[in-house]
Amino acid sequence: MPSSTRVLRIDAQTPDPALIAQAATVIRSGGLVAFPTETVYGLGANAWDAAAVDGIFRAKGRPASDPLIVHIAEMAQLSQVARDVPASACLLCRRFFPGALTLVLRKSARIPDNLCAGLDTVALRMPNHAVARALIQAAGRPIAAPSANTFSRPSPTSAEHVLDDLADNVDLLLDGGPTVIGVESTIVSLVEEPPRLLRPGGISLEALSALLPDLQYSPHFADDRADSLPAPGTLLKHYSPRARLLLFRGDDAAVYAAMRAEIAKHSRVGLLLLQRDAEQFHDLNMPIESLGRNSNQAAERLFAGLRALDKAGVAVILARAPEQGGLGLALHDRLLRAAVGEVIDARAML
Ligand code: TXA
Ligand code: MG
Repeated sequence: MPSSTRVLRIDAQTPDPALIAQAATVIRSGGLVAFPTETVYGLGANAWDAAAVDGIFRAKGRPASDPLIVHIAEMAQLSQVARDVPASACLLCRRFFPGALTLVLRKSARIPDNLCAGLDTVALRMPNHAVARALIQAAGRPIAAPSANTFSRPSPTSAEHVLDDLADNVDLLLDGGPTVIGVESTIVSLVEEPPRLLRPGGISLEALSALLPDLQYSPHFADDRADSLPAPGTLLKHYSPRARLLLFRGDDAAVYAAMRAEIAKHSRVGLLLLQRDAEQFHDLNMPIESLGRNSNQAAERLFAGLRALDKAGVAVILARAPEQGGLGLALHDRLLRAAVGEVIDARAML
């Protein structure tokens, strides 16, 4: 079915100002624009406009309790969005802005309450993507944007993913090709002492800890069946394919054996594995999505792989828990949430 979303193809390095101007007009008039960043595609609206921000929650089917990220294009906008900015923020901005880092700070009075889900804090980042930066500049205001997927689905790393989820719910889509990093930004809260990493992402914990030695990270996976409201963004079920995902832990031999045992139990199984692991299963006739050779390639391909296996119609996806250094920490977090906690310890099965 043709969608009513206007799609404009745009060069990711040198975006055509005429196309950017069209998108900026949509933002200024309260509409929704999906646009590429270096991490994933965002679903943007004027951050000063509560009604436009409301439109984001409606389009995504996102609960009002889950706050959005504000995207800025220049440092001067930071003081419009946040107040009482600590020295540690300046340190991180100098090193990582523009880039895949989101900071949680005290919010300015100008930020509408719905954007922050009623909290006194705001998440803010400066994307490192020419299209995103040009759009924010041309709109002349910060842009509120979550990932441009339906709530709890894998984040979109291409324009096609955005259309798959949100066709008809977005006024305009800037198609700048696939995103480079492929997992979302790292979120660091600077409103607590010591500072805390809330979501691993495109900037590694190691790189951040080098600047913020007291940075804490304790993975938290809230169960949405629990009565109390979980902290924003910590829901266990997130980034989920439609298929059930099983995450395997253990050394090569144990994992390969356990995977073969699991494959034998189901019809319509698919694999999402690094190339070297995928090669072990080439004798089997089943959908396999390769995550490439290393964690950079795996991050780039992860969400596309989950979506491709859903499209192939598999009922079960088998994946392997990655090493948790560098981008591996974000990969592990996304896979565990996609698996909704279903982890198989292959060692225990030998
Ligand atoms: O890379 C990214 O960060 C992408 C691109 C589009 O910029 N955006 C993104 O947005 O991943 P979203 O909405 O999918 O994830 C934002 C996360 C949510 O988990 C939300 O709970 C958390 O940021 N967040 C937003 N404001 C917060 C706040 N004030 N305190 C704590 N967490 C917050
Ligand atoms: Mg998201």
